[in-house]
Amino acid sequence: MQMETTLIILKPDAVQRGLMGKVITRFEDKGLRIAGAKLMMVPRDLAERHYGEHKGKPFFDGLIKFVTSSPVLVLAIEGDEAITVCRKLIGATNGKKAEAGTIRGDLGLSGGMNLVHGSDGPESAQRELALWFKESELVRYQKSVEAWVYEA
Ligand code: RTP
Ligand code: MG
Repeated sequence: MQMETTLIILKPDAVQRGLMGKVITRFEDKGLRIAGAKLMMVPRDLAERHYGEHKGKPFFDGLIKFVTSSPVLVLAIEGDEAITVCRKLIGATNGKKAEAGTIRGDLGLSGGMNLVHGSDGPESAQRELALWFKESELVRYQKSVEAWVYEA
């Protein structure tokens, strides 16, 4: 097994549309474990650092305005290959193109308001987790049901 932790953000549209529970359930139903959670308004500098790779792109200003416009729910999610698994659950960037069965494919119709962020690789996950969570805010524990999720 390759246990990983990934950074997931339920973006302002997910919170405003009352979809937090549904989206969290997608991750929980998969067998993944929530290791950290906080509801917050995103300071502009944090949003800009998080999406730093997109600075200078035409959609950058709109993206920062969107993610700072209303609260987000930030999650750290753990599991076997959690980074890739969560990206698959989330689906393609634009909800109109995302496969049915994915979070974006089932719940959204937009490229900008696409409900969820997920780290796109191990380096991003490490960088983003450090940006959003203090080490002391990550809770390490096991769930007994994991004996029925993962083969021994
Ligand atoms: P995210 O980082 O939020 O998980 O999304 P992603 O990996 O699927 O997409 P990414 O390429 O990292 O883009 C970050 C966010 O910027 C907005 N975007 N708009 N108009 C456009 O061409 C465009 N491209 C990206 C989206 O809100 C996307 O989630
Ligand atoms: Mg991305």
